[in-house]
Amino acid sequence: MYLILNIIFVIISFSYSISVLKMSKIISLGGLKGGTGKTSIVIHIANVLIKFGYTVKLFDLDENTKNLSSWYLFNEKNKNMSCEQLFNSSQQAAVKIKECTQDFILLDCPGMLGKELRMALSISDVFIAPLEPSQFSIETMPKMEKLIESVEFINSKLLHYYLISRATTNIFVTKNQVFSELIKEGGYPLLKNFFLERGIYKKSVDTAISIYDSVPLYNQNSSIKPTSNLSSDQKAIIEIEELTKEIINNINKNQPTQ
Ligand SMILES: Nc1ncnc2c1ncn2[C@@H]1O[C@H](COP(=O)(O)OP(=O)(O)OP(=O)(O)O)[C@@H](O)[C@H]1O
Ligand SMILES: [Mg+2]
Repeated sequence: MYLILNIIFVIISFSYSISVLKMSKIISLGGLKGGTGKTSIVIHIANVLIKFGYTVKLFDLDENTKNLSSWYLFNEKNKNMSCEQLFNSSQQAAVKIKECTQDFILLDCPGMLGKELRMALSISDVFIAPLEPSQFSIETMPKMEKLIESVEFINSKLLHYYLISRATTNIFVTKNQVFSELIKEGGYPLLKNFFLERGIYKKSVDTAISIYDSVPLYNQNSSIKPTSNLSSDQKAIIEIEELTKEIINNINKNQPTQ
């Protein structure tokens, strides 16, 4: 009897460790404000993840804009990435997302309170709310925190971060820094990396070309080293790669210890 129990325990532990190793990670981009760069960030992060060798599945949860799905129409040939619209946020929809086997599942949520946002919060590993540096953005944060608190009992492993988005690249403008200090002083979790306002991010999304293919001088075979001689387009690649690495590292740190 003792031996049988031992064998069952070993089998359960083994399958648990395999499932932990193989588990897909769900990253959601959302918030309570429109136009903050959510869809653009999903697209750029997806391209970086693929560049890093991961498989990616995208879900467009924003029925009003369908921006992600229309962008994907031009990218369907990319074998490492697939995209689905999911405009119903039933239990089955959540199960469908959780059953995906790709390394990373990215959910593009609408910029408002609704059932899609609640569903995304209840199943994600990480939720990221991009915020443009403005008073209006700050005003959304307490409500966002309450919303996150309200799903804690369903999804206790959820990590959430704010991300300074569409911020100026002008180093002489202190707005970014002031905004970042305000967020930190309020005790809100903030990602270290920013998503700056850069023409190449917009051009790349608008022309449905990966950020890597949008920067002509970027050498696919060599990693760009951060030096002061980089063009602003090359800096855009480094920045989005650093942001992606920060998110991956935060997920890894949050893994249950075995
Ligand atoms: N970092 C950036 N640099 C330059 N342009 C940007 C950047 N982020 C977003 N944009 C532009 O701003 C507009 C809105 O971006 P996007 O659609 O990604 O935001 P969103 O938060 O998904 O909006 P919505 O709430 O409507 O879904 C787009 O035209 C996009 O190209
Ligand atoms: Mg969007």
